[in-house]
Amino acid sequence: MKELNLKIESLKKIKNDIYLLQLNSPYLAKRVKPGQFIHIKVDDETTILRRPLSLHKVKNNIISILFRVRGRGTKLLSQAKPGDTLNVIGPLGNGFEVLHPSSEVINILVAGGMGVAPLVFLAERLAKAKNNKTKNLVLLGAKNKKEILAEQEFKKLGFAIQIATDDGSYGFKGNVVGLLGKILSAKDYRLWTDIYACGPKEMFYEIKKVTDKYPHIHTQVSFEQFMGCGLGICCGCVIETKNGYKKVCKDGPVFDLKDI
Ligand SMILES: Cc1cc2nc3c(=O)[nH]c(=O)nc-3n(C[C@H](O)[C@H](O)[C@H](O)COP(=O)(O)OP(=O)(O)OC[C@H]3O[C@@H](n4cnc5c(N)ncnc54)[C@H](O)[C@@H]3O)c2cc1C
Ligand code: FES
Repeated sequence: MKELNLKIESLKKIKNDIYLLQLNSPYLAKRVKPGQFIHIKVDDETTILRRPLSLHKVKNNIISILFRVRGRGTKLLSQAKPGDTLNVIGPLGNGFEVLHPSSEVINILVAGGMGVAPLVFLAERLAKAKNNKTKNLVLLGAKNKKEILAEQEFKKLGFAIQIATDDGSYGFKGNVVGLLGKILSAKDYRLWTDIYACGPKEMFYEIKKVTDKYPHIHTQVSFEQFMGCGLGICCGCVIETKNGYKKVCKDGPVFDLKDI
């Protein structure tokens, strides 16, 4: 992990309040793993705390970040210009473990809204590790059709895709965990099933209810938590787990769902 000054290669508005930021960093590109994040200083004067954002994609020396404008920090970030320099600390956090990379396994990625951001990077890794016994499936959840993100990226990576929208404007009507429950009950999931999820934390408790009856399903979840230092010092990001209090920035952000 290092403090780095990185040049912005590009910053594009993808839709509504969603932006794709590309930074040039051979150092990070070589080291990052899916589920890890970087801590970005967006402004020296008015926004003291850095903002945590996940790695969305990595290609050659370029790392991409997909982010939603939520408040002051991400608004400022959306106004940066290509050629500007951003001060970044990373890579941070543990990242997802790909548990059964070459065996007979069904990988299900579950994305709630912006939770899709780190899952595209994970999908790239899973697509590389895929053999003819592996099935890769992604469930994308959003409020409505317009809010669905990264569908084309998953398609290019050969993932089967199922969509859930709260208003039923695209795919399954309901939330993405409702869709997951339907899939698990309708199919024969005797194979190892690895679930990788990212989204609001309420979603994880729902996933737990849905998957509890399937002992062969293993689930990892990536938490979005308010952060201070991002380095394990301030205790600003602590959550309670079965193994005691854990720091999302250092022990996570990815946790085994059975420990939550
Ligand atoms: C490990 C990690 C990875 C993340 N990756 C991404 C990503 O790839 N793309 C992305 O768009 N966002 C991601 N987030 C969330 C992102 O960090 C926050 O949206 C951002 O910090 C908000 O900063 P702000 O100054 O714009 O908003 P603020 O003004 O600080 O807050 C505005 C509102 O946003 C919400 N909020 C702020 N920070 C968080 C947070 N950390 N978690 C949940 N809600 C928050 C609160 O409801 C708050 O009222 C990630 C968070 C974590 C912890
Ligand atoms: S943000 Fe400071 S310990 Fe995690």
